Amino acid sequence: MMQLLTEIEKPCAFVPTMGALHAGHQSLISQARELCDEVVVSVFVNPLQFEDKEDLAKYPRTPEKDAELAAAAGATVLWTPSYEDVYPNQITKLSAGELGDKFEGVHRPGHFDGVLTVVHRLFELVKPKYAIFGEKDFQQLFLITKMAAQLHPEIEIIAAPTVRESSGLAMSSRNVRLNKDARITADVISKVLRTATESDSVELARKQLGELAGNPDFQLDYAEIIDEANFELAGNETQQARAIVAGWINGVRLIDNMEMKSALVRA
Ligand code: PAF
Repeated sequence: MMQLLTEIEKPCAFVPTMGALHAGHQSLISQARELCDEVVVSVFVNPLQFEDKEDLAKYPRTPEKDAELAAAAGATVLWTPSYEDVYPNQITKLSAGELGDKFEGVHRPGHFDGVLTVVHRLFELVKPKYAIFGEKDFQQLFLITKMAAQLHPEIEIIAAPTVRESSGLAMSSRNVRLNKDARITADVISKVLRTATESDSVELARKQLGELAGNPDFQLDYAEIIDEANFELAGNETQQARAIVAGWINGVRLIDNMEMKSALVRA
């Protein structure tokens, strides 16, 4: 039986979500359960982070399935706040700064300001000891970690590895909108990422990512190799690099990333 957020007395681990839960979220919840006996899962589709109102309207909503999957994975509280619960007063928006306008930010202006604003509010309301975020949204994870270090130093941010389908496709709530052909195209993303991240130079990895730009069924937004320390383009000083990709297949936006396998890569 799920408890209410107000009944929690012990330290909790927190998994913020926008619902449409899948095995990827369940893995975050299971990891949270290893950290704390109390696991709060929030489901709140945050309008502030959707620059495209059609995307917001189309965002999948599956409340019954969410309740089932959250409980099965070990959540002790499933919290579904209303807009007024989260934003009772005039909204003070946080800014994601310069990085908020790069990569994802180029294609989704204002998105990260909305993400940081809601996560900050959710942290204020839930007051967790730990908060778990998937590595799939790597730029989001980077920005939230930075924001939390400044505004919520008491909360430990835990990065959880991306959960993939057997084909390699990163799990996402948007995958349900992919038809059979789109899935075949989508599988190419993780394959190209895998090849690129096995290269031992950034230059070669960039060349391999370039393959995605030539795929007529994939409208590439960006494919880059970044330095994990600062999210700048990877270069000679980079200790740990990561390949990041996003684009569109048949009207569905997909995003993925993978860590470069060789620890020290050369540009
Ligand atoms: O990754 C998500 O699902 C959302 O961006 C988050 C972190 C729950 C904030 O709305």
